[in-house]
Amino acid sequence: MKIIYSIKEMSDFSKKMHLQDQTIGFVPTMGALHVGHLSLIRKARGENDKVVVGIFVNPMQFGPKEDYKRYPRNLKLDAQLCRQEGTDVIFYPDVRQMYPANYKTYVVVQDLSDCLCGKFRPGHFKGVATVVTKLINIISPDVAYFGQKDAQQAIIIKKMVEDLNLAVKIKAMPTIREKDGLAMSSRNTYLHKDQRRDAVVLYQALTQAKDLIRQGNRDSLDIIRKMRRLINKRRSANIQYISIVCPQDLKPVDKIRNKVLIALAVFIGKTRLIDNIVVSP
Ligand code: PAF
Repeated sequence: MKIIYSIKEMSDFSKKMHLQDQTIGFVPTMGALHVGHLSLIRKARGENDKVVVGIFVNPMQFGPKEDYKRYPRNLKLDAQLCRQEGTDVIFYPDVRQMYPANYKTYVVVQDLSDCLCGKFRPGHFKGVATVVTKLINIISPDVAYFGQKDAQQAIIIKKMVEDLNLAVKIKAMPTIREKDGLAMSSRNTYLHKDQRRDAVVLYQALTQAKDLIRQGNRDSLDIIRKMRRLINKRRSANIQYISIVCPQDLKPVDKIRNKVLIALAVFIGKTRLIDNIVVSP
């Protein structure tokens, strides 16, 4: 396995692979790899000749008061995990290469970026769309793999790829969960012991919503009210939003008639966690 630090070297590698008719599967990450990331790498490994894992903590997608500086970074451990999963290349560019001092260009996916998490993290999806576009242009992968845990991100990236005619297939893979249901996230490492116990309530609330829908409840407001009640029982939990939306355009759904995306963001102590499920009535 190689670690490539330079954009030029990364593009040259990809060009060489394509000349040899080798397909490239790409897993973009910000490092601090966990089992969820490894499942994406495994999937990429099974479907492509070469696997590239991107590790770049992208400053553009963090707000000024967010955790960019303290975001966990551990290249040595990440490299070990990537190697175990049969990764061919880790692409590990630095910030100055990705965003030189005179950087001016951004990618914005309108509307889809302003709701749900976007409402509370202005500029976040502009940062994500911009960096993913750059990474796709540098690596030219055949397929790029994202986690369904970041459902809004996956929807935005798919739309961006469609609108900009980028020659890559986007796959959103199922959320990987801890035994108790907590979605795997690099930010789970921030949680203290009692917070970790409380954090399971995100999944419990989503499961409760799914059960209510399956039992015939079609009233989003009522379902959200019940989810709130459950989450508010946990001392360290502070709800940022709970929404029931259409999984295509992310518009709120009042009466549930078709498949819906139920998404939420909850602070557990100071740690902001997100989760979601897609439910059919
Ligand atoms: O999901 C993430 O880890 C990031 O948002 C991504 C896609 C790597 C872009 O920085």
